[in-house]
Parts: sequence; structure tokens; C-alpha cells
Amino acid sequence: MSESKERLVNPEPRPDDRLDQALRPKTLAELIGQERIKENIAILIEAALQRGEPLDHVLFYGPPGLGKTTLAHVLANEMGVNIKITSGPAIERQGDLAAILTNLREGDVLFIDEAHRLGRNIEEVLYPAMEDFALDIVIGKGPSARSIRLKLPRFTVIGATTRLALVTAPLRARFGATYRLDFYSLPAMQAIVKRAADLLIVQAEPDGIEEIAQRARGTPRVALRLLRRVRDFAQVRAEGVITREVTHAALDLMEVDNLGMDDMDRRVLRTIIEKYKCGPVGLNTIAASISEEADTIMDVVEPYLLQLGFLERTSQGRVATKSACEHLGLPYPKEKEDQARLL
Ligand SMILES: Nc1ncnc2c1ncn2[C@@H]1O[C@H](COP(=O)(O)OP(=O)(O)OP(=O)(O)O)[C@@H](O)[C@H]1O
Ligand SMILES: [Mg+2]
Repeated sequence: MSESKERLVNPEPRPDDRLDQALRPKTLAELIGQERIKENIAILIEAALQRGEPLDHVLFYGPPGLGKTTLAHVLANEMGVNIKITSGPAIERQGDLAAILTNLREGDVLFIDEAHRLGRNIEEVLYPAMEDFALDIVIGKGPSARSIRLKLPRFTVIGATTRLALVTAPLRARFGATYRLDFYSLPAMQAIVKRAADLLIVQAEPDGIEEIAQRARGTPRVALRLLRRVRDFAQVRAEGVITREVTHAALDLMEVDNLGMDDMDRRVLRTIIEKYKCGPVGLNTIAASISEEADTIMDVVEPYLLQLGFLERTSQGRVATKSACEHLGLPYPKEKEDQARLL
């Protein structure tokens, strides 16, 4: 495991997050935040149910840990259908996909996680399946080969991806609706932490809940993980009650600061600020400087730094902002101040 995987605030799933499944909202009503998406989905579902048709194909995208998988389960549950789960890299051969498709029942949901990692040969099979509910099978080899078309039940593909830009245009075009998940607002995060604390039967004061919510990077998966770690700390050091002080002490010990930033975030920013005078500097250069993978930085570090306004992506590279310098207590380069004044 690389260092980045062990980060407490890494939004990507980790083995101990399995416990979260028990906390996963099952209905739209239980789902907190993402109001715009919820409203849109409620309409999709009602329309489909009224027409007695399967749901249109839906694609969710956004940073890890915001609820794409959760939404897929909620959709299937609200439609009252089965959900079959797979992922882009899991489908290696056309036959794998054919087997999955022929086992679906009318109305079922096929959830394809990491949809940007589907092979081109797999997508070729998927297109007619999504469009015409048909499976083209080639029988025989060479000149005598012929193709027959099998009818499939009408089903729904729900795709999820952290990288919309890597989803091929023809695949994207086959989704009837595409939704982008955003980081959650602070009130939504507080509600998520409160709900989880209640379900886990943890005693948590409102101040403690707020503190956890504040440091969870607008990401439910991170919030639930912080809650579990603070719960452990409270149990061992503080009679089991999660207060603001306990949360502070626990998260300071784990080096998660008041904005939910950890060592990895700070190293990325420090590199840009100290080595490259706040940038612009290319992603690969940053990655090499701190011995991390560029993909990891792009997927799990940058989205939150962009959200905080600490980082900007420009055509020349990454730029650290003045507020990033202020947060880290580093001086903002004088020539940048001068440049800003000239603009
Ligand atoms: N809107 C929400 N309300 C309450 N809890 C939520 C919500 N969204 C997500 N969660 C919780 O956060 C956890 C992570 O969500 P989920 O697994 O759906 O993320 P994801 O977007 O699929 O992430 P990845 O990109 O890594 O697959 C879930 O286990 C669930 O308990
Ligand atoms: Mg997921």
C-alpha cells in the first residue's frame, strides 16, 4: 500500500469502510444533501414508474466517497428492482459482459463502477445492449462467421466514474442523464455525522459533531471514517463521549487540521509554494517532487484543494493561491503580489 492509501482523509474506500454499508441510506428520503440530484432523480423514477418502463441509463461522476454507489443502490431500491454490480476493469472479455447481460431480468439495474476503465471491445458490446437491448453474438470463425442478434430484457445501466473526461464520447452519449456529485455543504455533513452517530449509538455532543463535519472535506466516506476514529479515541481517553475537545485532540493526534487537510495536502501545496514560487508548475513535476503518483494527486488530493480555493488549474500548470500560503503560514511571493497589482 502506498502512503497515500493509508491517509485517514483519503476519500477512496479502504477495507475498514465496509462497516459503512450498514450506514448506507436506502431510500431517497434517507439520503442527505445533493438536493438537486435528488429532485431530478425523484422525477426520473416517478416518470418511469408511471410509464411502467425501466429507468433511463444514468451516469454519476465526481470525486470518490460522495455517494455514487449509494445513489445507484437507492435508485434500484426505489424502483423495486435488483441491482447487479460490476466495474470497468472487472469485465475483461466480451463473453464476461454477455454472461452478465443475459442473466439480467426486466427492469434490473446493472451498476458499472469505474466506467472510464471499460475496454473498447467491451464498450462495443455494451452500445447495442444499452440502445436496443440487443446482444450481437458472432458464431463461427473466418469467412463462415455470422452474427446473430439476441434480445435482452429492458434494463438500466447506472455508471459511476471519478473521471468523466476519460469516459468515451459514444458511451457518454448512451446515458439519458448525467449527474455530477459535489462536495457536501457543512450542514449536510453535520446531518450525515449525526445520523451515523445515532445509528452507531455513539454519544456525541453537537459541538463534537460539528468539528468532525468540518474536517471531513465535504465527503461522507471521510466523515464516517473520522467518526469511527474519534469514537475509539473517546472510548479510550474520554469516557466515550465525543465532545469538541475530544475531537480536536483526536484529530490533532492524527494530523488532520481544522480544514481536514493532512500531511499529503500540505506537501503538495508546500512543494508548489516553496519550490516553484506558487507555480505554475506541471502535475508530473509536483508528483515527482513528492514521490507520489500523478493520478493519485489528481484524483484524491486536488479536488478538495480546488474546492478550498487553495489551488488553481491553469493551462500552464498548477498554481497555489494566496489563501493557501496564509493557511500554511508561508509568505506569498512578492512578485505574485506585484503581478496581481498590474492586472
Ligand atoms: N447522501 C448521503 N447521506 C448519508 N450518507 C452517505 C451519503 N452519501 C454517501 N454516504 C455514505 O458514504 C459512504 C461512501 O459513499 P459511496 O460508497 O456511495 O461513495 P462513492 O461515490 O461510490 O465512492 P467511490 O467513488 O469511491 O466509489 C457510504 O457508505 C454511505 O454510508
Ligand atoms: Mg463507489
